[in-house]
Amino acid sequence: MSTLSSLVWLVRHVTDPVAPYSFNRMGFELNARGFDPGDLPEDAHGRVALVTGVNSGIGYATSRELARRGFRVWMLCRDRGRGTEARDAIAREHGEESVHLAIVDMSSLASIRRFAEDFALERVDVLVHNAGVLPDHKELTSDGIELTFATNVVGPFALTALLRERLSRSDDARVVFVASGGLYAQRLDLSLNDVTPEAFDGVRAYANAKRAQVILAHMLAERVPEGTITFASMHPGWADTTAVRTSLPKFHGTMKNVLRTAEQGADTVVWLAASAPPKGTPGLFWFDRRVAMEYPLPWTREGQRRRVELFARCEELGGVQLNEPRGKAA
Ligand SMILES: NC(=O)c1ccc[n+]([C@@H]2O[C@H](COP(=O)([O-])OP(=O)(O)OC[C@H]3O[C@@H](n4cnc5c(N)ncnc54)[C@H](OP(=O)(O)O)[C@@H]3O)[C@@H](O)[C@H]2O)c1
Repeated sequence: MSTLSSLVWLVRHVTDPVAPYSFNRMGFELNARGFDPGDLPEDAHGRVALVTGVNSGIGYATSRELARRGFRVWMLCRDRGRGTEARDAIAREHGEESVHLAIVDMSSLASIRRFAEDFALERVDVLVHNAGVLPDHKELTSDGIELTFATNVVGPFALTALLRERLSRSDDARVVFVASGGLYAQRLDLSLNDVTPEAFDGVRAYANAKRAQVILAHMLAERVPEGTITFASMHPGWADTTAVRTSLPKFHGTMKNVLRTAEQGADTVVWLAASAPPKGTPGLFWFDRRVAMEYPLPWTREGQRRRVELFARCEELGGVQLNEPRGKAA
């Protein structure tokens, strides 16, 4: 490597995780030069992967790639029509046995509980929390929870808790949260869910929910026996998907020519699900197959009290209880 290339590499290495220029397609293409093709085994031999919110975008691309790599994928969709279409398209490419549809609304605890009770398999190897929403107005779910927080945080938390026995039967379980670079400017603030409809700010509520996901990946990892379930969170950069087109139309209008494809957005999800991330460091936040900074802005760092509040709120709203962190258990 020449001195100049080394310098460029060094600058990118230090800044990539947070620099918005790397969130676009060119950023992916540059970062992908450092990917090791040997990282991803071609055949997962029927390992079981559950992916939420998969009839389009990053979730669909993740399901398709995992099916191609020999996973048996359960596509958790809330809409039967859209879900069937997506599932059938992957089945045509990779075989009927590679993909299965389950109807689950990640904003509804009743729907999540029903799925967890009915799911016939005894073991789950991979759980990807991909379903996400960014509503522009305040909406409460049938459980009385603000929709963004319900879909991105409480639902995934409850599903993880309800599947923990099955995850712990895997010899190498992975749980991946699809967060967002939008969290960088947001400090965890649980009061955002309680604001009046007039004061509701959808973008902040979304960033807050994604911040909560990244924190929960750490806190959940602290509550399972070491070396069992690997929790991770990641952000996909900026990918051209339905969510971006409909929830951020101005952003999409300006950026559409440089957005990542859904497959590029899904790359790190697939890598976290299918490759061998370091087992000794669970709970980390990833971008383009590298550990990313979580708090580039120091004032966004929350204190321990808020983390504990978040966990307790998730347990209360989700109607589930998890172990104490390792070392604190009686
Ligand atoms: N694209 C980006 O640049 C970007 C950047 C940062 C983070 N992300 C995150 O990436 C994830 C995937 O989003 P995407 O960009 O691929 O957008 P997308 O194509 O709109 O996918 C979102 C998926 O979530 C599903 N979903 C929403 N609410 C659900 C619920 N209550 N239950 C089950 N499924 C539900 C949607 O299903 P329906 O079709 O039924 O609505 C859809 O399949 C999200 O978590 C998003 O926050 C995306």
